[in-house]
Amino acid sequence: MCGIVGYTGMRPAVPFLMNGLRRLEYRGYDSAGVALQAGEGLLLEKQAGKVQGLADALTERASVDLDGSVCGIAHTRWATHGPPTQNNAHPHLSKERIALVHNGIIENHNSLRERLRADGYEFLSETDTEVLAHLVESHYEGDLLVALTAALKEVQGTFGVACISAEEPGVLIVARRGSPIVIGLGEDETIVASDASAIIKHTRQVIYLDDNDVARIVAGDVEIRTLDSTPVSRATSEIDWSADAAEKGGYEHYMLKEIFEQPETIRNTIRGRLDSDRGTAILSGLNLEARDLADIQRMLVVGCGTSMNAGMVGEYAVEDFAGFPAEVEQAAEFRYRNPIVGSKDLVIAISQSGETADTLAAVREAKDKGATVVGLVNVVGSTIARETGRGVYLHAGPEISVASTKAFTSQVSVLLMIALKFARSRRMSRERGMEFVREIEALPLLVEKVLEQNDRIAKVAEQFADFENAFYIGRGYMYPVALEGALKLKEISYIHAEGYHAAELKHGPIALLQDNVPVVALLNHGPGKDKTLGNVAECQARSAPILGIITEGDEEARSCVDSYIEVPYAPLHAAVIPATVALQLFSYHVARLRGCAIDQPRNLAKSVTVE
Ligand code: G6P
Repeated sequence: MCGIVGYTGMRPAVPFLMNGLRRLEYRGYDSAGVALQAGEGLLLEKQAGKVQGLADALTERASVDLDGSVCGIAHTRWATHGPPTQNNAHPHLSKERIALVHNGIIENHNSLRERLRADGYEFLSETDTEVLAHLVESHYEGDLLVALTAALKEVQGTFGVACISAEEPGVLIVARRGSPIVIGLGEDETIVASDASAIIKHTRQVIYLDDNDVARIVAGDVEIRTLDSTPVSRATSEIDWSADAAEKGGYEHYMLKEIFEQPETIRNTIRGRLDSDRGTAILSGLNLEARDLADIQRMLVVGCGTSMNAGMVGEYAVEDFAGFPAEVEQAAEFRYRNPIVGSKDLVIAISQSGETADTLAAVREAKDKGATVVGLVNVVGSTIARETGRGVYLHAGPEISVASTKAFTSQVSVLLMIALKFARSRRMSRERGMEFVREIEALPLLVEKVLEQNDRIAKVAEQFADFENAFYIGRGYMYPVALEGALKLKEISYIHAEGYHAAELKHGPIALLQDNVPVVALLNHGPGKDKTLGNVAECQARSAPILGIITEGDEEARSCVDSYIEVPYAPLHAAVIPATVALQLFSYHVARLRGCAIDQPRNLAKSVTVE
């Protein structure tokens, strides 16, 4: 949520900052801005709206100072405090000598603002970040690292921060608590960012700051201290994905590219993790011995949004195959309702970004209560990955589209492997385990078969693009698919869509059905199908148009619906993946027909680092 970039070195900073912002725009696109050390002072340019608006403003303003600046910071914003206006855009300046960009939330901004106002500071914005800029200035006596450290000690809340001073040429200071900061090491230059996609084009050598680290960076030199001023060294890691992985690669949108990548990303997720001879999964990152597995009495899955929907599939699969209790819970609720969790619980935190504030808070709560906590994370080196210290990386590559697609199918693939591993350690036979391995190995092929129908799905979408409301219904494993399908549609097409258990529809929502409220019914072959067909009939009796997601060749289901998308047969726990991919494509085409900003839907952000 929000993107930060900073550069210090020997070359003009603006191209680094602008390229970085473009890479990070998916984290927020309400406004964008840069601040540069230029001549004797600071040069500031910021604009409401997307990064391109800032680029245009910089072109108009072209000057020797701007082109010659070798140190600066930049930001693309997802608004928290104050609407997305130019004044509220970052960077924020204090007394023309400090410029600062910030991700996160300064929770005690009101009391700090009052104090700073009384001390004569003038506020131009409604943001919590401007409070921090003035606070740093109030401590500034020529050493920005010292001033930022003093300011952050007074701050409650979360931050990823980058700042510069007019009085310290070439010096860039960054700090973090709760919001990531990655430092990319070049030769005689350093580029910092809130995630590695802004850095990868320039270097693969990176340092991830820990919470409460503050770093002073001058050209290629990085000096890190903790907030209590103890010098520390943090390991250098190498980014193992390429810049190409974060490009559109000929697709009209990142979302479509990421949908089409899924056969490959699922292959990457499962590669080397299945043992077909023993019929089990090898998930060494979980770091759980047979003894630990036997001790676990319950699995609890926490996550937000799409990650939580994936978690529900894990809940069903673990109970189904491993035979011990599993539950999924909204990460945001988990922390505040005093949950009963202890040393016999395995808590699985699912997060594409590894930075979602609510999921991170749930991880900390579960750890404090003595549970074994593992992360299912896509972004390597992210906070949840590091704080859990054990888990399974998704290996889905960078997901840029705000609406999550390939992360979901990789998360479900990992959860199926976890269910298999637990099941084999308890009650599943070797033969069934071997068959389960084959079911997981078949997933990429099932997805390919759905992708082959892209044109047909686009045609089906034409019939549904003009509605303003929709319901998605399913049972069993298809219930989380209904939730995820509805989430995808509302995120990118702005059609109001609700996922419901098929049986639950008649307890209220059915009152809303009429001929302009379609129902998308998950009718995959399996135990819930007949009952869901009954629910479909109830919907049809209220004139609702029905789109069925049906198993290939299922004449009965086909005859009961108005339109259909066929998915290849698979046992239901595996059919989750092709059914979801069909709904991803359906949402994509509906949104495209409605002319929506598919990769950057309004009001959303890819990585939500505030509670
Ligand atoms: C945001 C994104 C969703 C995502 C959710 C959880 O709301 O827009 O696509 O599912 O955060 O993110 P995470 O990175 O924790 O999976």
